[in-house]
Amino acid sequence: MAALKEKRTCGQRCEDFGRFVWNSDDGTLMGRTPEKWVYISLYYVAFYVVMTSLFCLAIWTLMYTLDPYTPDYQDRLKSPGVMVWPDTYGEEAVEIFYNTSDKASGMKMANILNEFLKPYNDTQQLESNNYNCTKGKYFIQNTFSAPHHTKWSCPFTQSMLGACSGFEDPTFGYNCSMPCVIIKMNRIINFLPTNHSDLPAYVNCTVLDGQENVAKIEYFPDRGIMDPSYFPYYGKLAQPTYVNPLVAVRFSLVGEKKAKIQCRVVSHKISYENFHDPYEGKVIFSLKAMK
Ligand SMILES: *[C@@H]1O[C@H](CO)[C@@H](O)[C@H](O)[C@H]1NC(C)=O
Ligand SMILES: *[C@@H]1O[C@H](CO)[C@@H](O)[C@H](O)[C@H]1NC(C)=O
Ligand SMILES: *[C@@H]1O[C@H](CO)[C@@H](O)[C@H](O)[C@H]1NC(C)=O
Ligand SMILES: *[C@@H]1O[C@H](CO)[C@@H](O)[C@H](O)[C@H]1NC(C)=O
Ligand SMILES: *[C@@H]1O[C@H](CO)[C@@H](O)[C@H](O)[C@H]1NC(C)=O
Ligand SMILES: *[C@@H]1O[C@H](CO)[C@@H](O)[C@H](O)[C@H]1NC(C)=O
Repeated sequence: MAALKEKRTCGQRCEDFGRFVWNSDDGTLMGRTPEKWVYISLYYVAFYVVMTSLFCLAIWTLMYTLDPYTPDYQDRLKSPGVMVWPDTYGEEAVEIFYNTSDKASGMKMANILNEFLKPYNDTQQLESNNYNCTKGKYFIQNTFSAPHHTKWSCPFTQSMLGACSGFEDPTFGYNCSMPCVIIKMNRIINFLPTNHSDLPAYVNCTVLDGQENVAKIEYFPDRGIMDPSYFPYYGKLAQPTYVNPLVAVRFSLVGEKKAKIQCRVVSHKISYENFHDPYEGKVIFSLKAMK
């Protein structure tokens, strides 16, 4: 059967295209009269102007309502997490195991603590956080009175950790059976650990396993208190030089020299029984001194 459409030559096709571009019979340009082209262009210009302004309005509203000093979404964290240093992990939990007859194993722990304590360097702290904070009271700051439109931060120095500061004993007790650990509570913007009238939050460590192997527990600063003057935290932008207050705990190990410890930050406002987050309000770790 012959093809239904007769074959067209190239010349004919070019002619067809030429007629499409400018059809002098109907006076149309690419299928539309110039007048229609003007209307359709105007329509699209108006359409894009409206769309662009709507987009800009939405962005502007978003930026206007955002406060650069506080994150918008922090609903997940109502109660702070707690961590311990040296942060040496075993199978799944923190295991602070060391060998008193092996200098290198004690050095490893001391190095972790020295590295962790770097921001707490006395000279550096007293330089960057030279505000005279009033101890025992929350440091509420409604204005940005520190230089460069920021808020003051209180100094926390390494020497506040007393016998666990690493100054008197550079081994932090890891050359014998009196190891120091450092407890830190994560920061949460605008969080006050206790109600204004209550006693300040403090760290309390209890022996879960191996009570007979722990002769003494000592806290630095005194009674393991996290002074209220370090709260509330106003965010990285408002308080660029902020450092978390720390609590060091020294355990005197005897007998088998191993124990399972739980350290909790005690306050009505800090929960510690969250099944889904074992580090909320507390930290559990194993301590073992070998020979
Ligand atoms: C502790 O270190 C000493 C000396 O390096 C070594 O002889 C001993 O086996 C180590 N103990 C353990 C439990 O690894
Ligand atoms: C603290 O910092 C100063 C100066 O930056 C330095 O000289 C000093 O050794 C540091 N101290 C400690 C304990 O790291
Ligand atoms: C900080 O305040 C205390 C108590 O008000 C005062 O004794 C001390 O001299 C002050 N220190 C400085 C450096 O201003
Ligand atoms: C551990 O180091 C401290 C400070 O350097 C020292 O006073 C203490 O005697 C040492 N203990 C042992 C068992 O070596
Ligand atoms: C302290 O705060 C807790 C939790 O927010 C609350 O249940 C308690 O009633 C408060 N106590 C006082 C004395 O305000
Ligand atoms: C620390 O916790 C233990 C066990 O929950 C409790 O017996 C002890 O009284 C607490 N110590 C302080 C100072 O709260």
